Amino acid sequence: MKKTLIIDCDPGVDDATGLLLALAAPDLDVLAVTTVGGNVPAAQTARNACILRQIAGREDVPVFMGAEQPLRRAPAGAGEFHGAEGLGDLAPVETRQSYEAETASEALIRLIHSREPKTVTLVVMGPMTNVALALRQDPSLADRIQQIIAMGGARSEGGNITASAEFNIWADPDAAHEVLSTSVPVVLLGLDATHQVRATEERIAAIETIDSDPARTVAAMLRFSQRVERTIVGWDAAPLHDPCTIAYLMRPELFEVCPAHIRIETESDLTRGHTAVEFRVAADSAPHLWATKADAEGVFDLITRTLSDGAIK
Ligand code: RIB
Ligand code: CA
Repeated sequence: MKKTLIIDCDPGVDDATGLLLALAAPDLDVLAVTTVGGNVPAAQTARNACILRQIAGREDVPVFMGAEQPLRRAPAGAGEFHGAEGLGDLAPVETRQSYEAETASEALIRLIHSREPKTVTLVVMGPMTNVALALRQDPSLADRIQQIIAMGGARSEGGNITASAEFNIWADPDAAHEVLSTSVPVVLLGLDATHQVRATEERIAAIETIDSDPARTVAAMLRFSQRVERTIVGWDAAPLHDPCTIAYLMRPELFEVCPAHIRIETESDLTRGHTAVEFRVAADSAPHLWATKADAEGVFDLITRTLSDGAIK
């Protein structure tokens, strides 16, 4: 049985790997890609999604451009980690097909209502602005979305944009607060899990052996992140954040998740976007799941095999 999903993202080099993985996976039915301003501005993330869709040979999947800025904060940016255009060293190209006229939040509402309740997973790889806007416009979505699997947040690992916050949640903490305050089941894959999933030299080299444009693109993104990580952060292998959301959807057993009540700091400038992960809640009433462990080898094996199978023609 195929799993049906919509991917909301801000490509972004790790978003790119997550998108190319999902678009190559035979057991995933990607209804649409919606994009949001985040790593780079909204017009670029929408264009980048169209480029990645074309590389994947999946122009059957529509792209919808979303929010250009957070609900009430100034637009963020992470160009130093994703390149000025958002796809590392990959130069932007004109695509055969552009994004649709409908906005991301309108498309989310229409597409989720077009399917039976609780049959569509929403995978979020960037700031949650589009999701919050859709839920504001149509609160009944909360009863129709099967689950939200989002990359975001930090607990034991500390932050990556400030001492206490991870970029996606920090970029739009108000949106994250609104989404996590609804009844939608949310699985949050934060830095506590994604920092365990490192793109080592051996893992990148394995992807470089695959003869396909998607695999070559993933390898190029990983190589870019490897260089950036070594020069900016001083780590030898870059963490692979966003693809963990797709890996969790495909093979949840690769992760350990714990029931929790997750709340977002929205008032303090010092700790803006902090995810307060409270495990001391009754498991059967905890509204969220927080990822504590990841099987890195299993995640890369999944990525490599999915891209390799997709390359076999
Ligand atoms: O903190 C990592 C997250 O921020 C990832 O989604 C990455 O693409 C950036 O958006
Ligand atoms: Ca992202």
